[in-house]
Amino acid sequence: MSRLVVVSNRVALPGENRAGGLAVGLLAALQERGGLWFGWSGRSVAGDSGALHEQTDGNIHYATLDLSRADLDGYYNGFSNRTLWPLLHFRLDLVDYDRRKRETYWKINTLFADKLAPLLREDDTLWIHDYHLIPLAALLRERGIGCRIGFFLHVPVPSADLVQALPEHRSLFSTLYACDLLGFQTRRDAARFQSWVRLFGGGRIIDEDWIESPDGRRVRTSAYPIGIDTGHIARQARAAAGNSAVRALRQSLEHRKLVIGVDRLDYSKGLPERFHGFQRYLTRHPQEKGSTTFLQIAPVSRGSVAEYRALRHELEQLAGHINGSHAEADWTPLRYVNRNYAHRTLTGFYREAAVGLVTPLRDGMNLVAKEYVASQDPDDPGVLVLSLLAGAADEMKQALLVNPHDLDGVADAIATAANMPRGERIERWQAMMQHLQEHDIHRWRSDYLQALEGG
Ligand code: G6P
Repeated sequence: MSRLVVVSNRVALPGENRAGGLAVGLLAALQERGGLWFGWSGRSVAGDSGALHEQTDGNIHYATLDLSRADLDGYYNGFSNRTLWPLLHFRLDLVDYDRRKRETYWKINTLFADKLAPLLREDDTLWIHDYHLIPLAALLRERGIGCRIGFFLHVPVPSADLVQALPEHRSLFSTLYACDLLGFQTRRDAARFQSWVRLFGGGRIIDEDWIESPDGRRVRTSAYPIGIDTGHIARQARAAAGNSAVRALRQSLEHRKLVIGVDRLDYSKGLPERFHGFQRYLTRHPQEKGSTTFLQIAPVSRGSVAEYRALRHELEQLAGHINGSHAEADWTPLRYVNRNYAHRTLTGFYREAAVGLVTPLRDGMNLVAKEYVASQDPDDPGVLVLSLLAGAADEMKQALLVNPHDLDGVADAIATAANMPRGERIERWQAMMQHLQEHDIHRWRSDYLQALEGG
């Protein structure tokens, strides 16, 4: 089996303890066959970009790059998160078209290619992750790298008409032809990429899973919906029930039902709409007043980007307004928390919650939805209320699916979920849990790598 090389903007370095589900899946693959993980060091430095740090842990080698403040600003805060992120989440209204940021993005991808190329061997299998690194495969090919290269996009693909609004979208997205396999979260994302290829990319669609580039290269384009470490999360949630933070939460509820949301503080997550939806639930279902508490955990994310700061401000106002209008002396309907919790604690919180509220306006997949389900008590599971506009909705069919813009619909779904009879809850949960067990993170990466290496 050839060595696996993973490239991603963020690298879960040993001992950092911020390894999410994706990192768990990738680490298992890297450990199994030996490998290299390459990416940004997480550090911004005063001097120039490019210092390379290397370390080894077992049979995994890590190589990470420092970036200068200005480069990080253009590449990460700028083109990645103020241009591509809103574009790929269907938010043309938020796209920053600044040319300098686009140039810095290319500069940093070129730097990645320059530093990575000498570390590669001919028979490596290279797996590049996400929108920060779209041109990297093509830049590596220019440097003579001939090994198999796969790319996985964790975020959605919008329609080609939206992509067309991005200056130089052709030169950016056609770099993906340098890959052997392009993986997307859902079939619809893969199909929208294919339609871009046909309309603007000069290529041709061969069939559902294959395209041909203008110069005749065949590239596989398929959906690989990402999963979670289902078994581990279920065990962790069960064990977390005795955790002090979980017990303190349970006690503080005073037998009220818990409705929970956990999201990075990001406009794609539909948090203002969710807050309005919860408020609508309080007004449309007055008999429910005082029977539920909504806990929204939203750790601050990308805080240097203006749109994210504005969102934080908006949510603070909204939370104050909702509590001001509906709270009683002995009941606060909405608890809004910006801090982060250990993953283990979160799974314990999920298990406490009668309702999991996951209502993004657009999401590639949404792993909170899956983790909420995996964390439930099989004998008394909670109910997932899930946005139709999240990739996870394609798989979590037994959730209460809602349109996150339809506040009445969200309000009614909260009420239905909070009052659903146990038999129906168990039936819905079992179907979703079985799917999550069969399609976990390990199956995801082995399916992907098999397609990349076998195809
Ligand atoms: C999304 C992206 C990931 C990213 C994560 C956290 O899930 O698809 O690539 O790592 O958000 O965002 P951050 O900007 O903190 O890396």
